[in-house]
Amino acid sequence: MDLELAPEHAGFRAAVREIAQSAVQPWAAEVDREHRFPHEAVQAATQSGLMGVLIPQEYGGAGLDALAFALCIEELATACASTAVIVDVHNSVGTEPILLFGDEQQKRTWLPRLATGELLGAFALSEPSSGSDAASLKTTARRDGGGYVLNGTKVFITNIGRAGLYVVFARSGSDERAAGISAFIIPAETRGVRAGQVFHKMGLHGSPTGELVLEDVRVPAANRLGAEGEGFTVAMRALDSGRIGISGQALGIARAAVEEVSAMMRERGHGQGDDFTLAEAAARLESARLLAYHAAWLCGRGKPFTREASMSKLHCTDTAMQIAIDALQIAGEDGAISGSSFERHVRDAKALQIYEGSNQVQRVVIARELLKAG
Ligand code: CAA
Repeated sequence: MDLELAPEHAGFRAAVREIAQSAVQPWAAEVDREHRFPHEAVQAATQSGLMGVLIPQEYGGAGLDALAFALCIEELATACASTAVIVDVHNSVGTEPILLFGDEQQKRTWLPRLATGELLGAFALSEPSSGSDAASLKTTARRDGGGYVLNGTKVFITNIGRAGLYVVFARSGSDERAAGISAFIIPAETRGVRAGQVFHKMGLHGSPTGELVLEDVRVPAANRLGAEGEGFTVAMRALDSGRIGISGQALGIARAAVEEVSAMMRERGHGQGDDFTLAEAAARLESARLLAYHAAWLCGRGKPFTREASMSKLHCTDTAMQIAIDALQIAGEDGAISGSSFERHVRDAKALQIYEGSNQVQRVVIARELLKAG
C-alpha cells in the first residue's frame, strides 16, 4: 500500500496551491466582508482549467480523478472556502450527473461548455419541505407532448443566479417516493426559470445560496437525464462523490486554521496548553485526510464508496469545525474580532456539517451500509 501521492497528483496539487495562494487567497477577506461573489478567484480557477477537473479530455476537461478533485478543493479552501464551494459544486453535483448519466448527445452539448467555465453548474434537489428526506420532493414534471413542464421551488441552491445550468430533480411519475423522480438539465435562460430569495448566511459569504423558482418551465425530453424515474439514483450517486469534494473543502479550512495558528504561536510564544490543542488538531486533520483520500481512491477505481464517502464527509467536516474553534480559542481575543480569519473559519466550517447531506444523514447512510444484508 502506497500512501505517497503519485507524481501527477503531487504536481497537480502544487499547481493548484500556487493558483490558490496567488489568485484566490488575496480576495478571501474582502469577499467575506462584502458578501460578494469572488469573481477574480473564480476567473483564475477558470483560466487554470479547474472547472473541468473530472470531465474527460475528449469533452474539453482535464480528465482527472476523484483524488485530484479532492486535492484541488482542499487547496482552494485553504485560501478561500467560498471560492472552493463554488468550484466544488460546479465540478461535482453540477457536472457529474451529466458525466455519469448523460447520453452522448447530452455530453457533447453540455460538458465542453461546463469544462471551460462558460456555464457554471448547480444542483437543485432540496425544497422548503424536503431537505434530508430528499425523496419526498414536490416539484412536478408533467408530461406535455414531446417534453415536460416543471413547476416548483428549490432551496439552498449553491451558485444561484450565477449558474448557467441547473441539474433539477422533479416528480414525473405517480410513485410518491424515489421511483417517481426524474432528473433534468435546465439551462438558466429557459423561460420560467428564475432565482428567488438569496439567503444571508452566517458563513461562506462569497458563495451565493438561494431559491430556484420554476414556473411552467418547458423542457424537451432530450434534457431528461437518465431514464424516467431514475432521478433519485442520479442524485444519490452525484452526492456520494460530491461528499468527497466537501471533505476536501473541510480539509482546506482545517489546514488554514492550523497553519495560521501555528504561525501566531511561533511569533508570540506559546504554553503547553496551547501546544496540546495544536497537536490534537494536527493529528485529527491527518486522520481526516486519510479517510478522504481513501474514499477518493475507491471512487477513482470504480469500487463501491458510498459508506466511505459518508464517513469521510462526517469526519472531515466535524474535524474542520472543531479545529476552527480550537484555533480561535488559541488565538484568543484577536481571533474573535470580526474580520479575523479565525472567526471566518468558524463561520465557514459550520455550513459543511449541514450541506450535501447533513451529518445526521451521513450517519443514516453509514449505518445502512454497515447493516446491509450479506
Ligand atoms: N447511489 C446510487 N443510488 C442510490 C444510492 C446511492 N448511494 N442510494 C440510494 N439509491 C437509489 C437506489 O436505487 C434506491 O433504490 P433501491 O431501494 O432499489 O436500492 C433508491 O435510490 C431509494 O433509496 P432509499 O430507499 O435509500 O431512499 P431514502 O429515501 O431512504 O434515502 C437518504 C434516505 C439517504 C437520507 C436520502 O434522502 C439522502 O441522501 N438525503 C440527503 C440529501 C442531500 O444530501 N441533500 C443535499 C442537497 S445538495 C446541497 O447541499 C446544496 C448544494 O448545492 C451543495
